[in-house]
Amino acid sequence: MEKIFNEAKALIEGAGSPEAVEELRIKYLGKKGEVTALLKSMGTIAPEERKAFGMQVNKLKQDVEALIETKKSSLAGEGRQARLAAEKIDVTEPGRAHSPGTRHMITITIDEICAIFQNLGYSITEGPEVETVFNNFDALNSAPNHPSRDMTDTFYITENTLLRCHTSPVQVRILLEQEPPIKVLSPGRCFRVDTPDATHSPMFHQVEGLLVDEDVTMADLKGTLDLFAKRMFGDKVKTKFRPHFFPFTEPSAEMDVSCFLCDGSDKSCRVCHGSGWIELLGCGMVHPNVLKIGGLDTDRYTGLAFGMGVERTAMLKHGIDDIRLFYENDVRFIGQFY
Ligand code: DAH
Repeated sequence: MEKIFNEAKALIEGAGSPEAVEELRIKYLGKKGEVTALLKSMGTIAPEERKAFGMQVNKLKQDVEALIETKKSSLAGEGRQARLAAEKIDVTEPGRAHSPGTRHMITITIDEICAIFQNLGYSITEGPEVETVFNNFDALNSAPNHPSRDMTDTFYITENTLLRCHTSPVQVRILLEQEPPIKVLSPGRCFRVDTPDATHSPMFHQVEGLLVDEDVTMADLKGTLDLFAKRMFGDKVKTKFRPHFFPFTEPSAEMDVSCFLCDGSDKSCRVCHGSGWIELLGCGMVHPNVLKIGGLDTDRYTGLAFGMGVERTAMLKHGIDDIRLFYENDVRFIGQFY
């Protein structure tokens, strides 16, 4: 037994892997193992020696088991050490780059326009994209035979409802809901029957502005929009108001801004094409017929209104030459702005 123990001890302690230890366990403690064979030979031992023999074999069995357990756990510990060493994290490695989303250029531009007017005390309201013909045209003083009412220009849903072709119907909703002083800005989608090209899209965005109070004059309109232009395109830009016609304003104007890129000095300027001026928005003093929709006393109240294209503003400001880029959502384009 002593010989078996010594031999087992040497072999087990010298084993290099869990598999080798398992083989040794089988060699000594398995069904046909050497220690097992001794246990089985009990019957051949003389009865008076059997007890002492049995105790010794059991002790041998326990000792070999202990050797095996000790070796197993020490090998497992070594394995863990080796694994930890191999799996060590190099905290100096650069991290994996994330690509967080960006705001869309349309959203950025709307937010920018809204922020400028919010600083002037305007609040933001949105109107529905599906409008009544009444709000989109009639209440805005548009002539019954005006060409923009045509099905070839406007998407009708039913005889009395349509996809709004501008954000101006929000003016009507506000006049019906609020009392002066009214100071509201309303961004949103608009729709017109148009074949897409570099400057046209059947869906686009506008921002509408409406201010109604006592003593509102054309000077307020010009001052407000001049300030807006400077905040949007830079302090150096000048503004110019050209007479125009809109059914819902009287007088009406279009506002041009001086070219923020070349100021008229570059005959081949991609923004103003050498004219020095860029057409930016429509505006005017709210027509009394429109104010009457809200039941307002037109001797007491006057108002100013304006409407601008979001895509156009963004294209001018960022040198974008094709409106379709906004809707294709190619991340190489939309990822450039945030
Ligand atoms: N609704 C006009 C359009 O789509 C833009 C506009 C012009 C809005 C003058 C206004 C305004 O509020 O006063 O072309």
